[in-house]
Amino acid sequence: PAPLFLDCDTGVDDALAIAWLVASPGVDLVGVGAVSGNVAAATGARNTLDLLALLGREDVPVHLGAHDFLDHPFSGGAPHVHGADGTGGVALPRAATEVSGTSAAQALVDAARAHAGELRLLAIGPLTNVALALELEPELPRLVREVVIMGGAAMAPGNVTAVAEANVHNDPLAAARVVDAGFDLTVVGLDVTMHQRFEEEHRQALLAAGTPVTRVLGEVLEFYFAFYAERFGRPCSVLHDPLAAGVATGDVRLSLAPRVPVAVDATDGPGRGQTIADLRGLYHGFPGSPPVGPGAARVALEVGGDFGAVLLER
Ligand code: BDR
Ligand code: CA
Repeated sequence: PAPLFLDCDTGVDDALAIAWLVASPGVDLVGVGAVSGNVAAATGARNTLDLLALLGREDVPVHLGAHDFLDHPFSGGAPHVHGADGTGGVALPRAATEVSGTSAAQALVDAARAHAGELRLLAIGPLTNVALALELEPELPRLVREVVIMGGAAMAPGNVTAVAEANVHNDPLAAARVVDAGFDLTVVGLDVTMHQRFEEEHRQALLAAGTPVTRVLGEVLEFYFAFYAERFGRPCSVLHDPLAAGVATGDVRLSLAPRVPVAVDATDGPGRGQTIADLRGLYHGFPGSPPVGPGAARVALEVGGDFGAVLLER
């Protein structure tokens, strides 16, 4: 199995992504970093420890990462989406495990050196820890084989401002550094994640499956479903982080994902947090797009198939 390091802000959809990774035979989850985002990093780390224990993976080390973002403090997260605790008000069984003594950024660097040229990185929260790891090890883009992030919106509207997606908007400076670093990078953003749904019938199937894990995930999803019910008119949810996890494990086929120049707006203007993908070549056939180099990524624009059913199956 391919070694994979996860960085996350657990979070309801992060929890589903973790369950997906643990159930994926093709990847070996070598460590998890926690960053502030949906909840404070320490809360996300606790949720991750408890969830991993429930999944029978107490052996996976969880590393505490940045509480504050690169150029501004964490300011409370998204309790209206994920609940104040990040698990929709459902108390997970408390595991005996604790966070490791190594920071998330250092642990990512260590894993990249230990699995040089092989490590895959999946980042489904703000990119603060990854940016800090780049400061510790500027060679990180050469050591890491592939990076998949859940973040951004290339053509779709944002979800926290008109143009910005939450993970990028939380720490645009970190996202800009990661995009510019020269990783082999795939960006799984709102263009695709907003169209992949977990339905109430899927949630009921989880509850009915009756194992401790499926029951907890089904319960945790209730709050998240209620948030999206106000938007979509029926209880369901979008699948941001699990879809990115499916891309990282090679199970989701991106039917349209051009490699194009990408920039992140880290200014304080109305575009703050926007991911600017240069799709002129794709859409208008303009010959004038700048050359593809560092600052380029595969940008997911279309997914083949319905991921909700696949997720439930696994
Ligand atoms: C992203 O932001 C977080 O709220 C979710 O967990 C996901 O990673 C969606 O914009
Ligand atoms: Ca997340």
